[in-house]
Amino acid sequence: MKRWLRDVLGRRPAWMNALLAFCAYMTFVYVPWDFFVKPVAADAEAWFGFLLHGWAAKATEPIHWAIYAAGTYGFWRMRPWMWPWASVYAAQIAIGMAVWPVLHFGGVRGALAGAAAFAPFAALTVALWRARDAFRAPRRPLRERCGEWALVTGASSGIGAAFARALAAEGFSVVLSARRADRLERLAAELERERGVRTRVVPIDLAAPDGAARLADAVSDLELGVLVNNAGFGHAGRFDACSEERLVQMVQVNCTAPLVLAHRVAPGMRARGRGALIFTGSLAAKQPMPLHATYAASKAFVGLLGEALWAELRGSGVDVLVVEPGTTDTEFQQVAGEVAHEGETPEHVVAVALEALGRQPSVGIGWWRWLRGNLGMRLLPRSLLTLAAQRVTERQTPAELR
Ligand SMILES: NC(=O)c1ccc[n+]([C@@H]2O[C@H](COP(=O)([O-])OP(=O)(O)OC[C@H]3O[C@@H](n4cnc5c(N)ncnc54)[C@H](OP(=O)(O)O)[C@@H]3O)[C@@H](O)[C@H]2O)c1
Repeated sequence: MKRWLRDVLGRRPAWMNALLAFCAYMTFVYVPWDFFVKPVAADAEAWFGFLLHGWAAKATEPIHWAIYAAGTYGFWRMRPWMWPWASVYAAQIAIGMAVWPVLHFGGVRGALAGAAAFAPFAALTVALWRARDAFRAPRRPLRERCGEWALVTGASSGIGAAFARALAAEGFSVVLSARRADRLERLAAELERERGVRTRVVPIDLAAPDGAARLADAVSDLELGVLVNNAGFGHAGRFDACSEERLVQMVQVNCTAPLVLAHRVAPGMRARGRGALIFTGSLAAKQPMPLHATYAASKAFVGLLGEALWAELRGSGVDVLVVEPGTTDTEFQQVAGEVAHEGETPEHVVAVALEALGRQPSVGIGWWRWLRGNLGMRLLPRSLLTLAAQRVTERQTPAELR
């Protein structure tokens, strides 16, 4: 707990920790109370020093709420977009503090009170303006932090291929693994030609009981800096109507293979004091998913495994991240037998993952999906959550498989 607190508070200067605490208080306590509990007649909101009352005040409260929620998240994660917006909002308060006493008291008294109230917020505006670098703390390039070689499973398509391209762009030599050797060979040639990196192609079926161990053996001569445990698939349909063999293969590919590979490469990374383990989980893991029951359960396994390893390996120089995409435009839906629906690009998923690596144990892709996944899990009764998920999966599952 102490270590966690030291980590969390150490990400920003003390005065910014105070702002974070204030934003959190406004987001979770004060503004909800103001909005839902305070009578309309008693409500007042200030914007640029002009007071709004009654329904006009109530109507603008969600904007205040959104601003403080963004501030809480922005200070918590020290997001780059906080500059210049934190400073702009502080300037709005400073202006309000100067204007309101002038309008309210008038004359010299108003001007003096305005100047006194303006000064601390003006100072805060300047401090936030000058804190630009704190919101974009420079990091050593990933290649330097981890080593030369990266192993990407499921590299023949979708998110895995995007990981391979992004890592090669960072200068990693890449081991590409999946079953379709022709695709891996093509990608390897592209990476060598366009990025000038070394590659190795290891075609392997991770559904085979010894698949992951054979893959680990095939790279045991390399000092792996990054392992992307990404290969995986889904299988849509009613549990009792699904092929048992396919479900067992899914657990092998989605759960056992990442476990075995992480177990085989983590000791070397720990001994070298650097490296990264990335697990492709899913937002599907955030609730039970009728008609995708085994898939959601398999991704919950990966999520919990990866987050636990994040804690175990903290301080060892090895970063661990579970990336949790929502629907992504890959071959996944076709393989799973789902009705087609739109999603994110795999490149976006990978960019978010690489940005989050080393900063947090897991990352959801897209704030709305993240909110849906996390709020539902924390607030709704399990029965309601599961039935709501079923409504969604029913739309995505062909009638004959329901
Ligand atoms: N797309 C989404 O909406 C979404 C959302 C959340 C999470 N995810 C997760 O993202 C990961 C990547 O999926 P994707 O969306 O990129 O789908 P994809 O385009 O179908 O890619 C899946 C990859 O896994 C490999 N793979 C599947 N079965 C394998 C096996 N038995 N042995 C070895 N490799 C195997 C495939 O290669 P071969 O077929 O050549 O073997 C392919 O490279 C998966 O873990 C998936 O669960 C996807």
